[in-house]
Amino acid sequence: MQAWLCESPVGVEALAWRDLPTPVPGEGEALIAIKAASLNYPDLLIVQNKYQFKPPLPFVPGSEFAGSIVALGEGTTGLGVGQRVACLSGTGGFATHAVVPAALCMPLPEAFELTDAAAFIMIYATSYHALIDRGALRAGETVLVLGAAGGVGTAAIQIAKAAGARVIAAAGSGDKCELCRQVGADAAIDYTVHAPGGSLRDEIKRLTDGRGPDVVYDPVGGDFAEPVFRSIAWRGRYLVIGFAAGPIPSLPLNLPLLKGASLVGVFWGDFARREPRANASMLQTLAGWYVAGRIKPVIDRELPMSELQSAYALMASRQVKGKLVLVND
Ligand SMILES: NC(=O)c1ccc[n+]([C@@H]2O[C@H](COP(=O)([O-])OP(=O)(O)OC[C@H]3O[C@@H](n4cnc5c(N)ncnc54)[C@H](OP(=O)(O)O)[C@@H]3O)[C@@H](O)[C@H]2O)c1
Repeated sequence: MQAWLCESPVGVEALAWRDLPTPVPGEGEALIAIKAASLNYPDLLIVQNKYQFKPPLPFVPGSEFAGSIVALGEGTTGLGVGQRVACLSGTGGFATHAVVPAALCMPLPEAFELTDAAAFIMIYATSYHALIDRGALRAGETVLVLGAAGGVGTAAIQIAKAAGARVIAAAGSGDKCELCRQVGADAAIDYTVHAPGGSLRDEIKRLTDGRGPDVVYDPVGGDFAEPVFRSIAWRGRYLVIGFAAGPIPSLPLNLPLLKGASLVGVFWGDFARREPRANASMLQTLAGWYVAGRIKPVIDRELPMSELQSAYALMASRQVKGKLVLVND
């Protein structure tokens, strides 16, 4: 097999495409021939030693991928050789093959395209868990999605629309706002025009008839959190998803008090570990929504697996709309 190897986590430039022995699956494991892998934000952090999870060196990055099972270890049930699966294993995906615990393999219905499947679990599971489970979003409510043209952002637009909500997308360019409207947003705010320290709050007010959004989905953090929290509706829910902008913001605690509003933490990875049954049931719902055409990953572009370093550069420079997918021949 071949794989991108991280021998020293000092950045993308240090990754090397290597020939490695193809691993043999042990008990409870599956060997996958990878067709496609997608980039998630933590994939960028992990090769820079900036992610909370630090795998032992050397490791193969690539959190999420899809392909076909080519061998199974002892004691695996419910899976077969040749079966198409999606897998979110944290590492191992930027390669031609990977061995993973069979429990992490999500069998795919016939209608599921492998490039979509490689870009599915992280963004939809996070956004469904955030909006529906943690945020208790109801039909008719208004959701403001920050970083709306990114991976989890585009998924949040689709899930909120599928739940019957009105969606205001906020993103960092006119092109990104246009994409958000195409994905289903009812309105979009370009925050390079309406900046957090400028007219952002006025624009949110205008688009919500002065009420503010019932739910805010925030994967960006930075300078947005405080002004956007100040704009939230009475009984609003502010979903803390991530900090793509870098700095972790802080919030004066009188603000939740004044709005009767909640600050709601979202950590999908730990939810999946602590509540595996609820997570499995959620993934089944989401796969059904995909097959029914209610959700579909926005794929910015597909690149050959050999172009991983260019893919990372696009993500780091905020040029990606939706998801980037790397494919093997
Ligand atoms: N809590 C959870 O369970 C969970 C699960 C998955 C992901 N996350 C987190 O959610 C965040 C977004 O993940 P993602 O996969 O959607 O990433 P992504 O596709 O790269 O999207 C992130 C978006 O953030 C915006 N952004 C603002 N400032 C940025 C900056 N300085 N650098 C990069 N992007 C910036 C960009 O949009 P604009 O250019 O339009 O501003 C970009 O589209 C990450 O922090 C990730 O760790 C959390």
